[in-house]
Amino acid sequence: MRNDRSELSVVKQAVKARLSIVAVVERYISLTPAGGGRFKAPCPFHSETNPSFYVYADSESFHCFGCKASGDIFEFYCKYHGLGFMDALRQLALEAGVHLGDMRVSSKAAEEQERRSRLFKMHELAQKRFRANLYGNGGKEAREYIAGRALDDKLAESFELGWSLDDWQDVVKLFQRAGYTEEHGLESGLLKKSEKAGRIYDAFRSRLMFPIKDLHGRVIAFGGRVIGQDKEGYKYINSPDTPIYKKGDHLYGLAQARRAISARKSVLITEGYMDVLTLHQFGYNNACGALGVALTPEHVARLRGLTSDLELIFDGDSAGREAAFRSVERILLHGLKCRVVTLPEDPQAKDIDLLLKGHGVKAFEDLRAKAPDGLTYCMRVLNNRSPGAIMDWVRDFLHKFKLERPEFVSKYISDLALGLGLEERVIRREVERAESVSGDAPGQRQIAPAPPPRWERDRRFIVFALRYPRYIHTLEQKGLEFILETPRGASLWLKLCGMSPHEVEEDIFEDFSAEDRQFCLYCRHVDLPPPDDEAEEQDCRELCESIERLIQYKNRHSNIQTVAALRGLRTGEEAAQKARSEDGDVVNELFEVYNRAAQQRMRKEHE
Ligand code: UTP
Ligand code: MN
Repeated sequence: MRNDRSELSVVKQAVKARLSIVAVVERYISLTPAGGGRFKAPCPFHSETNPSFYVYADSESFHCFGCKASGDIFEFYCKYHGLGFMDALRQLALEAGVHLGDMRVSSKAAEEQERRSRLFKMHELAQKRFRANLYGNGGKEAREYIAGRALDDKLAESFELGWSLDDWQDVVKLFQRAGYTEEHGLESGLLKKSEKAGRIYDAFRSRLMFPIKDLHGRVIAFGGRVIGQDKEGYKYINSPDTPIYKKGDHLYGLAQARRAISARKSVLITEGYMDVLTLHQFGYNNACGALGVALTPEHVARLRGLTSDLELIFDGDSAGREAAFRSVERILLHGLKCRVVTLPEDPQAKDIDLLLKGHGVKAFEDLRAKAPDGLTYCMRVLNNRSPGAIMDWVRDFLHKFKLERPEFVSKYISDLALGLGLEERVIRREVERAESVSGDAPGQRQIAPAPPPRWERDRRFIVFALRYPRYIHTLEQKGLEFILETPRGASLWLKLCGMSPHEVEEDIFEDFSAEDRQFCLYCRHVDLPPPDDEAEEQDCRELCESIERLIQYKNRHSNIQTVAALRGLRTGEEAAQKARSEDGDVVNELFEVYNRAAQQRMRKEHE
């Protein structure tokens, strides 16, 4: 690793020595001299008319006082052309006549890049094939099916539906002709291998094909619906996880709906492929689909950049209600708002596709008008549970908020007390109990072993750092290491802090375990919305705030433990209760007690 690093910096220095940043920037932007070896221009990275973008010849760097973009020649080149570091380095090195040599770094990153672009190409190829099948001679049955479900041809076209033939070797042959190996085919998830005979065959056969796209509009996976009798027992089958797709990370139709979501500042989230299409057909072009799962943190993160107004339209069956319930929890924990449209249990209207086609827009709009907000929805569901189960949920829910968004806790305590017919006092006591349990005081009885979302929380920080390595330093300064809770999170973070942003960008995860490396590569390359500095900065700010809060929370917790000992209270739990029953700033009070005790100790020692 050290070798690669120093080799890399030699190449970088050599490139910088031969290419001046001013000359390179000037190819794309017209620069005005600003004295002292400085040049200025309107910033190419955010929209403005006044020049706040400066290039410094001396330090070979640039800085925008408006959007705060800054860096060296490589960073400019990457950002301007939307390239990764290694690509920028390669191009600039070529231009400068600097030999890259055979750096292991580049081959590794390039390999991963190559794998991904091969998978994109394979999906594109299959996609074209499926479309040709649908509109060709073999596609009659599928075209009739589309018509039978009253799906607009135009919409089928704009969502690029396709048809996989009743043939075990259609895609197999297609890939063979294109020069892909069996391994490539298997890796794409579009081919499978029979266990007994080891024969390679098409994963999707006789199915209406729904391409799943990333935000760049590239096909990354498929869903396939059986037509007529289902021979395999599955109505839909979906692509497995691959290096370019992970179930639960993507929303169906987001590529098509994205513009409307940001324009309308709202999104409709539903369950199925057909449900998304039907919503679009009826004019709800801001709809996308979670594909039969509850919303994941990745889903929420994707949407958060576009809107904070979410509307859930899940099926009226118990699976749909359960998914809606869990989705609401996720959404609220991310600090967003939502409403839940509950579809009737009536099998003739149990999903939005049936409702809109069978009962029209008005029936849907009536339901929308009655849609409760997320928390109210949860409380209605909870009111059908036993008192014990309700309390378990309340305790767990508020505990998560305490860790993630303490500013909401008080409000939620009153809302929950009101909606669930509980006393606030009782709720507070329960939360304290949950808290003192996770306070890990030795010898304490476990009252409610609610597992704290430890890795999940660590993961949030690590994923962000991996995606936006230029913020690693900021998070480091904020003290991220003090609040990471899992050994895995802590060790990953330590390693990341030892790398430069460039090195993270180059995917040099060499002394990482295989599992960690895979995780990092995945985070680095999962498709992202197009760069949006503002959103990234906002995310970074939120993470920093969260770090601050967690540090405060931790300090406060350990203060409570200290005071417990000082006051002779038996447990942290007792101290926590005492501390909370007193008004005023708990932390200050605790420090005072602590200081007084310390002074007394010192006086005694003097005497
Ligand atoms: P549904 O069973 O509600 O199907 O599953 P649907 O969307 O109404 O489908 P149509 O209208 O009969 O065509 C909801 C979603 O769950 C996933 C799919 O994403 C589906 O759209 N699912 C369902 C599967 O992945 N596999 C299945 O076998 C069934
Ligand atoms: Mn349906």
